[in-house]
This record gives sequence, structure tokens and C-alpha cells, in this order.
Amino acid sequence: MNGKGHSEKIMDESQQGSTLTLEKTEDNTRKLYIESYGCQMNFSDSEIVASILAKEGFNTTNLLEEADLVLVNTCSIREKAELTVRKRLEKFNAVKKINPGMKVGVLGCMAERLKSKFLEEEKIVDMVVGPDAYKDLPNLIQEIDEGRNAVNVLLSKDETYGDVAPVRLNSNGVTAFVSITRGCDNMCTFCVVPFTRGRERSRNPQSILEEANDLWEKGFKEITLLGQNVDSYLWYGGGLKKDFKRATEMQKATSVNFAKLLDMVAMAQPKMRIRFSTSNPQDMTLDVIETMAKHKNICNYIHLPVQSGSDRILKAMNRLHTRAEYFELIDNIRRINPDCAISQDMITGFPTETEQDHQDTLSLMEYVKYDFGFMFAYSERPGTRAAHKLVDDIPEETKKRRLREIIALQQKHGLYRTQQHIGNIEEVLIEGSSKKSEAHWMGRNSQNTVVVFPKEHYKIGEFVHVSIKECTSATLIGEAVALSSNN
Ligand code: SAH
Ligand code: F3S
Repeated sequence: MNGKGHSEKIMDESQQGSTLTLEKTEDNTRKLYIESYGCQMNFSDSEIVASILAKEGFNTTNLLEEADLVLVNTCSIREKAELTVRKRLEKFNAVKKINPGMKVGVLGCMAERLKSKFLEEEKIVDMVVGPDAYKDLPNLIQEIDEGRNAVNVLLSKDETYGDVAPVRLNSNGVTAFVSITRGCDNMCTFCVVPFTRGRERSRNPQSILEEANDLWEKGFKEITLLGQNVDSYLWYGGGLKKDFKRATEMQKATSVNFAKLLDMVAMAQPKMRIRFSTSNPQDMTLDVIETMAKHKNICNYIHLPVQSGSDRILKAMNRLHTRAEYFELIDNIRRINPDCAISQDMITGFPTETEQDHQDTLSLMEYVKYDFGFMFAYSERPGTRAAHKLVDDIPEETKKRRLREIIALQQKHGLYRTQQHIGNIEEVLIEGSSKKSEAHWMGRNSQNTVVVFPKEHYKIGEFVHVSIKECTSATLIGEAVALSSNN
């Protein structure tokens, strides 16, 4: 998952044009406006929040001005992500002047990081709720209704929201996220996530299968299994991953790892496309790659962040693999799934990064030739091990110049990869209209590359065989040949 700073409003057409409501309306509903920032998990969490609040009589609205409750699901991954949220709070402040009854709550990673300090720093905020405390929202809302501020930032050992059926927000009705793990135990030294999302725990596979089946029944055609570190998924009856060693023999014998979970989901819905994100190289095992090869409906795409190509920097980041081990993993993926697309996350300018370390990153990229990537300049995060132990010593210009160099190389590799698709006929799942042209559909192939083609008589949600004619470094352009037999 990547903190790409996209924002989302809940769209609910039925709410449009309705009048300003400050009190509970006759049918006892109030209006909720929710915005999400950061990783896919946050977007998925907002769907859980909307579901919990629907039971409390909240209908969603896409009009900020008419909201009784405004929630912002926040990201802390880089300083810039936090600044974006602070800017939004200024906007909410302006709206509150027109609608003084409006309450504002902050959810997610910034809530967890700043806790009640948020209330002091941002006077507009009435409520601060961490990622494991969403089931407490009804109580917290009662508190703020009674005029008190409310805070719950407790992290949990077993909360996975497995029993909450998410309300799909802003959905295309075709693709959906299904969260399978929460938290992260990896402790990469630059990363704030283990502090904001707590220790790693996995969701009951049965509830994952039920959600997948339910989505299929509702017409969805593709799911992405989500977690900070999906390959580390391990169900042994509940509880933290780190406590598995204390599990009973029976629990160990019946435990479900990620490869097994993938196998179960792929078999439960053989026509549904299955994706997953994110894979940490240190946890990805051969049986996951083999399970991908075994099932046609598991997409040929792995997001495999490496962060750096230098062994010294990988060590300082506490990434628990070497450059050579990463290459071995890449070679295994290519051997078992030759058509598999691979993408990366990279960080430039981690403390002490030398020009040679940066060259090592560039040469690693040359070896893999990633299909795409998400690249960032290092941003020191308070509370992390890197912030405690290392000086953020790489000048901003150097971080930015190195970033430009890896982005340019990635673009070259992206183009190299998209060019390999020209002349192929590939199965594409139609997700919606192309952003650039109403006359074209936009969908993805198995490798997660965007494909654009004239609409003709095809419909959203259909699998179509598309003949690939042209490309840019990120998009394939083609013409539909026929419906796929997968429909
Ligand atoms: N395992 C997670 C990683 C979340 S963070 C997942 O599911 O994707 C996403 C990416 O943000 C990381 O892979 C890393 O490249 C980047 N990132 C994290 N902390 C950062 C920091 N302090 N500065 C810059 N980039 C960072
Ligand atoms: Fe962060 Fe590393 Fe986990 S990047 S989310 S600590 S795998």
C-alpha cells in the first residue's frame, strides 16, 4: 500500500440537494462526510467506519457544508501527508463558521500518533480515534453530542473488524478491498506504521471467504487482499502474530498461512480476480509464488517494495534481507511466473546514504526493470528508530536529485515493460470510463497495467480480450476483440 495522498469523498447521490440539517431529521438520520488520505487500508477502514455509523443512523453525504459529522481518516507516513490533513482542517474550520453544529473527528494514523495533543493543536477537532477503536465510535459520538471532547487511541491485540460488513464507498461496483491483516511487526527504522497501527494480527479466514463470496454475489469481479505485510498473514484462532510460538499444537496444526489463504480464496471464487498488497520481500515464500501459478484467477502482479539497493542501507533500515536475497526472490518469481509484473517502493536520502548506495539502488532497478514504482524522498518521522538514532543528514536537494534520477529510470523501465505487451491479446476487466475520454473504457490486465480501448458494445464489469496496439510508459492502448469466456 502506498501513501499517495489521494483523497476521497463518500458519494451518495440520494443525499444531493437536500437541505442543511443541524439536528437529527425526522427519520432520525444525521449526515456523515468522510475523507480518506494515505494507503488503501485507510480507504478500506473508512468503509468499516461508515458501516458502524450507518447503524447509528448516519447517512453519508458528499457535501461538506451539510454534514453533521465530518471525519478525516489520516496518514502519518511522511510529513507532507500530515501537512495535507492540517490544511484540510483549516477548510473545515471555515465551514464550521457557517455550520456551527458540525462536529469534526480525526481517525487513523495521525490520531494515533498525536493522541489528545491533537485537541490542543487543532481547536476545530472534537474527537480523536485511533485505527483499532472504531467500534467505540457510537460512545465517542455520544460524548461529543453532550459537549465533551472524546479520545480513544487504544491499540488492540485482536481487533480485525472481521465481523463488520463494510459499506462500499465511492465504489465502481467492480473492484473492492478486503482487509486480511492489521498492524505491522517489522519495525523498519524509517516507518511510523508499527507505532500507529500496532502489532500484527490476522483476520479469521472464514470471514474473509464470506466477504469475498458476498462481494461476488453483489457483482464485484476483483478483490485485493490488503495488509501492511500480507505474506506474514497467519491465522491460528486469533491473537497477535508474535504470540504464535505460544499456540497449542492443535492451533499450530490447523493454522492458515498466506499461501493457504490465497488458495482458499481463489478456489472459493474461481472466476473472481484476486490481487494482494503489500508483500515484504523478507516474508514472501516460494509457496505463495507457486500458489499464484496454480490459480488462473490470482493476478500476475506483486508489489514488492525494496526501499534501497544497498546492503548497508537495507541493514540500517532493518529490512531483514540482503540485495542478493532480493535478487534470488526476483529470479524465483520470474522462473515460476514468467509473466509476473513487479513493482517497487523506494526511498532516497535515508540517513548516511552515499552516492555509491544510490548507484546500488539504480543498478538494482536495472536488474529488475520494474513495471512501475512509488518513489519517495526520506521524511524523518518522530518516534521511529531512525529518528532516535540517526541524523537526517542528506541535504534536501540531494534527496530530490536522487529521487529525480530513480523516477527517470523507472519511467524508462515502465516503457520497456509496457512495450512488451504490444501485439498481445490480453484479458482486461472493465472498471469504468477512461479519465481522458468518455468514448473509451479503462480497465487493467492481470499485471495491473491500465488498458484503454474504445467502448463499442462492452459494459462495465465485463472481462474483455483486448488487442494491445500502442503504449505509453504506464498505459496500454488497444481494441477489444471479444468477450472473455470468464464472464
Ligand atoms: N508495508 C506497507 C508500507 C507502508 S508505507 C505497505 O503495505 O505498503 C508505504 C511506503 O512509504 C513504504 O514502502 C516506503 O517506501 C514509504 N515510506 C514509509 N516511511 C517513509 C518515510 N519515513 N519517508 C519516506 N518514505 C517512507
Ligand atoms: Fe512500515 Fe516496514 Fe511495516 S515499511 S508498514 S514497518 S513492513
